[in-house]
Amino acid sequence: MSLGKPFDERLKALKMSKPQNQKILQEVQETLRSCRETQAKISSTQEQLKKTNGMNNGVMEGVKSIEKRWQEFQDAFDQLNKQMINNIAEALGKSDLTDDTEVNHRLISIKDCAKMISSAECRNIVVLTGAGISVESGIPTYRDDNGYWTKGSENYRPQEIATRAFFDKNPTEQWKRNFRIAQLFQKSKPNKGHRKLKDLEDFCIANKKNFQLVTQNIDALHLKVGHTKEVFCIHGDMRYARCPNVGYNCCDLGNVKVAFPKIPKVIDGGSEKDNLPKCKECGSILRPHVLWFDENYSESLYKLTSTLEAVRKADILIVIGTTYQTSLPRRILKICQNQKIPVVDVNPNLNSDVCITDLLQIEETGSKFLSELMTIVRRQTKKSHK
Ligand SMILES: NC(=O)c1ccc[n+]([C@@H]2O[C@H](COP(=O)([O-])OP(=O)(O)OC[C@H]3O[C@@H](n4cnc5c(N)ncnc54)[C@H](O)[C@@H]3O)[C@@H](O)[C@H]2O)c1
Ligand SMILES: [Zn+2]
Repeated sequence: MSLGKPFDERLKALKMSKPQNQKILQEVQETLRSCRETQAKISSTQEQLKKTNGMNNGVMEGVKSIEKRWQEFQDAFDQLNKQMINNIAEALGKSDLTDDTEVNHRLISIKDCAKMISSAECRNIVVLTGAGISVESGIPTYRDDNGYWTKGSENYRPQEIATRAFFDKNPTEQWKRNFRIAQLFQKSKPNKGHRKLKDLEDFCIANKKNFQLVTQNIDALHLKVGHTKEVFCIHGDMRYARCPNVGYNCCDLGNVKVAFPKIPKVIDGGSEKDNLPKCKECGSILRPHVLWFDENYSESLYKLTSTLEAVRKADILIVIGTTYQTSLPRRILKICQNQKIPVVDVNPNLNSDVCITDLLQIEETGSKFLSELMTIVRRQTKKSHK
């Protein structure tokens, strides 16, 4: 594809002296930006074609070929991204940007983890959760691939819909998905895993240890069990919406979260723009309070700095039910590698392809792990008090 040549030139350039790296990085960012624009254009053409002419045969052919091109573009784009990062890292002398560390994951028992937590030296415990912990509450993960996250928008992948670019272009379609997801969240209840995590926090408080829960989940199920300390929701919280104008235009309500709008009785009924929830201050169509794929983390909305601070102070990081696909969890692992903070990774499907830091793996579901962990730590504490 046409991106090949300039990209090759950049790769050569990256091997040049370090003072030039800043400029090269800027160029790389430019290229990535233009790739994203192309992605958005292809996606919009695809959408147009599907709408046109009641999907007659000619158009269907067009859609198929666009879809094929889209897939090719996605693959090439992913490849390009990976290669760029590796080469930048190489040019900078194996910097923080690389994920390719030699790792030595090993299985440990729940008892081993309990010992680590109970030890006097372990004063700061950080837990990071992902979609896996909510599976037993009936909320599928992205990778369950049962189509839930794309239902009602079968023409798009979550990575396309959950973007600011998509919201700006097609808020109606996006709100259908928001309502559908919120509907599932609203009727879901915390499971044993969520409850036992609250017990772990109580255990920490009783034993004068600091506990910090960080979650990638937007379902708010951790919040429904009433943690003592604030839970850092690094990807947002679907119980809220907010004005989309923060950082774009001025609106006094920009940064303020408002209650999630009432879910309409018929979500798929051709809801028009006029019926979408609006900001009371400036009239813009509201957005859900979640971090989209084309947006950045921040402290004010997503507790970025607080999370990083908590991890830097941690004596142990326990991760439950994530595949580390998003950038903050990967950055967290990188900090653990740099500071030699042990990472216990709990997952019924082992994360064997993570190459950022060594993982102490527990091949178990979140609820079973946490139940057993709590039984063991309580037993240990009783014994030591005798
Ligand atoms: N519940 C939610 O709020 C929800 C659900 C899906 C996706 N998301 C969003 O999408 C992103 C998904 O990334 P992710 O890494 O969190 O999830 P993911 O979908 O990439 O991975 C989920 C992981 O959970 C594991 N898992 C399955 N059942 C489990 C169980 N019972 N106990 C423990 N682990 C189990 C799977 O093996 C998998 O590794 C997140 O950023 C999140 O914001 C949120
Ligand atoms: Zn507003």
